This record gives sequence, structure tokens and C-alpha cells, in this order.
Amino acid sequence: MTKVNDVVDLETRGNVAVVRVNNPPVNALSRGVRDGLYEAVTKANADGNVQAIVLVCAGKTFIAGADIREFGLPPEGQPLPAVIDAIENSKKPVVAALHGTALGGGLEVALGSHFRVALPNARFGLPEVKLGILPGAGGTQRLPRLIGVSRALELMVSGDQVAAPEALKLGLIDAVLEGDLEAQAVAYAQSVVTEKKPLRKVRDLTDKLAEGTPDFFAKFRKSQGKKNRGFPAPEKIVQCVEAAVSKSFDDGIKFEREAFSALRASPESKAQRYYFFAEREAAKVSDVGDDVTKRPIKKVGVIGAGTMGGGIAMNFLNVGTPVVIIETKQEALDRGVKVIRTNYERTASKGKLTAADVEKRMGLLTPSLQIEQLADCDLVIEAIFENMAIKKEVFGKLDTIVKQGAILASNTSYLDVNEIASATKRPQDVIGLHFFSPANVMKLLEIVRGKDSAKDVVATSMALGKTIAKVPVLVGVCHGFVGNRMLAARRDQAMSLIEEGAMPWDVDRVLEDFGMPMGSFAMGDLAGLDIGWSAETSRGETVLRDKLCELGRRGQKTGAGYYNYDPQTRARSVDPTVEALVKEFAKKSGKPQRQISDQEILERCLYSMVNEGAKILEEGIAQ
Ligand code: CAA
Repeated sequence: MTKVNDVVDLETRGNVAVVRVNNPPVNALSRGVRDGLYEAVTKANADGNVQAIVLVCAGKTFIAGADIREFGLPPEGQPLPAVIDAIENSKKPVVAALHGTALGGGLEVALGSHFRVALPNARFGLPEVKLGILPGAGGTQRLPRLIGVSRALELMVSGDQVAAPEALKLGLIDAVLEGDLEAQAVAYAQSVVTEKKPLRKVRDLTDKLAEGTPDFFAKFRKSQGKKNRGFPAPEKIVQCVEAAVSKSFDDGIKFEREAFSALRASPESKAQRYYFFAEREAAKVSDVGDDVTKRPIKKVGVIGAGTMGGGIAMNFLNVGTPVVIIETKQEALDRGVKVIRTNYERTASKGKLTAADVEKRMGLLTPSLQIEQLADCDLVIEAIFENMAIKKEVFGKLDTIVKQGAILASNTSYLDVNEIASATKRPQDVIGLHFFSPANVMKLLEIVRGKDSAKDVVATSMALGKTIAKVPVLVGVCHGFVGNRMLAARRDQAMSLIEEGAMPWDVDRVLEDFGMPMGSFAMGDLAGLDIGWSAETSRGETVLRDKLCELGRRGQKTGAGYYNYDPQTRARSVDPTVEALVKEFAKKSGKPQRQISDQEILERCLYSMVNEGAKILEEGIAQ
């Protein structure tokens, strides 16, 4: 074996040269990997004893993409497109042997190879769009040529991954191999040599480009709706695929390169790259190391079968964990179970689950009216309404019922977890697990650490978040924790803006054009305007939201809130009564009325969140 450099080595096995990349943790295409690949492929081509080349990676995955850390730095060493050209132009067949996740530049390396083989559990994707860029090393030109315009476009615009069985059907890979990947890939390469298979360069394929008609692209753009608002990368990807269809390969590559460079320098991409690493940083807790032993969570209890409780339960059923769900009334219990079933059946009707999957998940669910059924659960999550006295009563009861060593969690969105914990004799086992609605969909999970929460309870909760495919973020105790507290700051500004002359739909439009999935008022309607409102204490004379609630306009669920909602499509529209009410309340506020610019709306809404975020950090509520 020859070491090409620190991260790439070259070994000849019979007549096959094996080029091995070893750059933990994910074999990202750092300068060393690019230079090493280029040199190894060149050397193997010059070696008279070598008749084929296998590219393989050590560790948990094939190359998972460009090294994102190098993006802001001046380019050094071999550029990735040159490395891929060297592979594609190799006179000897190159077989890429794929395992783990071949993503981004990693998949582009594979697309430059003449053959692609993979382990059965390997996954493939071009997720660049999630970083605000596009596949910039030939991916937008090669993928449509290999698997067809339609599927290639879907994969690049969504950033989704495909599994090996689908990849084989699509022609993305040539074979699925079992067992020792390197040995199998070497045997595959030898068979290519013996059978004298011609070198297949993806750049030369054209038969699958025919579906890319102008009509096809127009329909595709329409199908995206407003999903990509505020993000320039998806539209650029569409343009690159149009170029793949209408231009020569080399001109298409040039087009792709220019689009890639422009996107890489965009503020959107910088923000999305920052977010990628921030999300991973958030997964680490400074004073809780990997050495902390986690508690086993084999059975989960959920108290409350309402929207939140049901959604929370689904997260665990999805990953095969049995759940006991508790309600106080049979009717509420039946309704909750029915909603869970309906959700799964809806997913199944879209072809994303089989009927057997639905039954398997429902089979893991035990509905009960007896809280004693939670005795042997490893984790119990309370998801009842926000009332401290009732929550304390529930936790006091759990303390006497649930086995020692279990984690007792509250899904509270505002209340003091320390006070809840004080209702038990085991505050070290109490923590907040704050899911966001709909709890089976939203990715964020705030893990609220109380002053006594034990380290292994924190570690177990963080790991559990990952198991159920959430983004777990550790937060401290304060009113609204991090997410809701920052949103409340924005909502207060949004309210001030409409008191000074803006309309709710102006504020929402500006936020949505910026790239937020939903504006502040639309979000209020979705959540329900009556959260925290009661008819007895309503102040409809002075508070606009209270007035709307008094009028029965409680948000989407009642068909009207700040907006009116179409009962079928849920499309929102402006109601002149609300416009008149807003004007009336603005007048009552006594604030001078004026025309407010979009820029001012944006700055006041965003800066208020930034400011609240800074305070949250200062107070040590977030790491
Ligand atoms: N560059 C640099 N570092 C990376 C990286 C990358 N592309 N991908 C992952 N890492 C780092 C992470 O930051 C993390 O580092 P720390 O342990 O120091 O925090 C470590 O690798 C492990 O990552 P995860 O915690 O995410 O591990 P995982 O097993 O859950 O997931 C993964 C692995 C699926 C590869 C995931 O990390 C991932 O999706 N990575 C990004 C893949 C990607 O976007 N590739 C495209 C890059 S852009 C590109 O390739 C452009 C082009 O056209 C040339």
C-alpha cells in the first residue's frame, strides 16, 4: 500500500488499483482529499499493471460532500471539477464503491466514475440546496443525463436522498453488492475488464434529456408554488437543468459554475451554512460528555391525547417504541387515538407508509384511562394544558406511581420546570421536553434543563431527540424558553406596527417574502388566537386579539382570525371587518398614523428577534 498523502492511499489488488479515502468524520472533500484523488487516479493510469480503478472510503460513509468549512476560504489545490474530469477521462474504468451517504460533491465524484456499485443500505443525494448553493461540480449536468430530467430536478431542488433499491431502478447505480464492499467492488472491476465493458461517460448520455421540454419546466416551476420564496438556489437549479437540456455539456458546465459561484457568495447561502454548523453545535452540551451513560428508553408514557399528546406519541411509535397514552375521559381518549390513526392513514394514502406499517404503529399504542398504567414506563411526557397547579398535581401523582429511574418530562411551553419538579421527591429526574405543534412534524425540540436535572437525564433526552429525528436544543428555564420567547418579541413589534398604520397582511407579506414560511399574524391564526385567552378575563375593548376571540374569530380552526380561511383549501383572504377593526384599534392606541415601509417592517420584526436572542445568550438560557 502506498500513502498518497495523509488522507488518500493507493493499493494494487491484482490488476485493480484501489484508491482509498480516509478523512474522518465524513470523508469531506478537503484539499487533501481532492489532491490525493487526482494524484492517485493519475498514478493508477500510468501504472502498466493496473487495468481498472476502484474508489472506496474508510469509516462510516463514502464522501459526504465538499468540505463546507473551506467555503469561505481562498481556493487551494486541485479544484473538484478538475478531479472529476481526471476520473471521467481515465483510460482505465473507474468503479465508485459507495456506502453510508454519498452526498453533494461525493455523489458528483461517483457520477464522474464509469460505474457505481453500492451496499444495500447506502443513500445518495445532492443536498446543496439546503446550503443555499447548487451541485457545482457537474451534478446539475450529469444527474439528469443519468436518471432523467424529472427525478434529477426533484432530487436537487428538494435535497432529498434516495436509497439503494430506488437508485438501482433509476440507473443511478449499476449494482447493489452485499458483504465486504471493497472486495466486491474489486471483483466487479475485474469483471468489467474481462467482459471488456466500454467506459460509460455520463457526460455523453443524451437519451434521458428528451423529457426536458419548455412545457415540462413551466409545470415544474408551477408545482413549486411559493415553497422556495426567499431562496434563490432552487430556481438556479432549474435553470442549470434547462441548460443541461439546451446546451452542450461543456457550455452547461460553464453555466453551472457561474450560477454556483454567485450563490456561494449570496447572503442566503452564508446564513444557511452558518445554520448547518450551528445546528450541529447545538447538539453538544458543554458540561455533559459522551462518557455520560444514557438511560434506556424502551417504553414511553404520554399524558394527554389532545393535539400535542397525540403528535408526541407518534414520534415514538414511528421508531418502534411502545407508548401508553392517558386521558381522563373515554371520549377524549377515543378521539385522540382516532386522530393518530387518521394521520397515519393519510400518510399511507400518499404511498409513504404501507397498511402494515400503519397497523404496526397502532399496535404499539396502549390507550388508557388509568394513570397507574404508566408505572413501568422509562419516560413519561405530560402534555396537558398550561396550568401550574394541575401540572404539579400530575407530577406529584407520577412521583408515587412511576418506577424509580424513569424520566418525568413536561411539554410545557412557558411554565417554570423547577416549580413543576418541586412537586416530586426526584427533581433530578424531571426535565422539559418542549415539542412544537404539529409535534409529529416540527423538527425543533427544546430540552429544558431544570436546576436539578441530572446529567444523564440531559444526555438521554438529547440522544432521544436525535432518535426521533428532531433537532434537540438544550435551553434553560425562563418564560417561553428560546423559540417562543423570540417569537413573542417579534409578535410585540408586529402589533406595534399595526398600531402605527401597517396592516397585518403587510407585515406577513414582508416576512414571507424574506423567506419565513409564515408571517406573525398568519402564525397566530394557525396556533389559535384563544391560546391563553378566556372569555371571563377578555379585554376586547383594548386588545385586538381579545376582540377577535370575542367575535368567534379564533384562527384557522374557526375559519377566521386575522384572516378568513377557505374551508376546503385553507387559503387565506383579507376581511374588510378586520381592516376596520385594525384601524379602530390603531386610533385608540393614540399613536401617530403613517405609511410604514417594507424595510422598516422587516427590520423591526427581525431585529427584535436578534435582540431577544442576544439577551437569551447573555442570561445563559441558551449555550
Ligand atoms: N463538510 C465539513 N464538515 C462536515 C460535513 C461537510 N460536508 N458534513 C458533516 N460534517 C461534520 C459535521 O459538522 C460534524 O462535525 P462535528 O462532529 O465536529 O460537529 C461531523 O461531520 C458529523 O456530522 P453529523 O453530526 O451531521 O453526522 P451524521 O452522521 O448525523 O450525518 C451526514 C452525516 C449525513 C453526512 C451529515 O453530516 C450531512 O448531511 N452533511 C452535509 C452533507 C452535504 O451537505 N454535502 C454537500 C456539501 S456541498 C457540496 O458538496 C458542493 C459541491 O457541489 C461541491
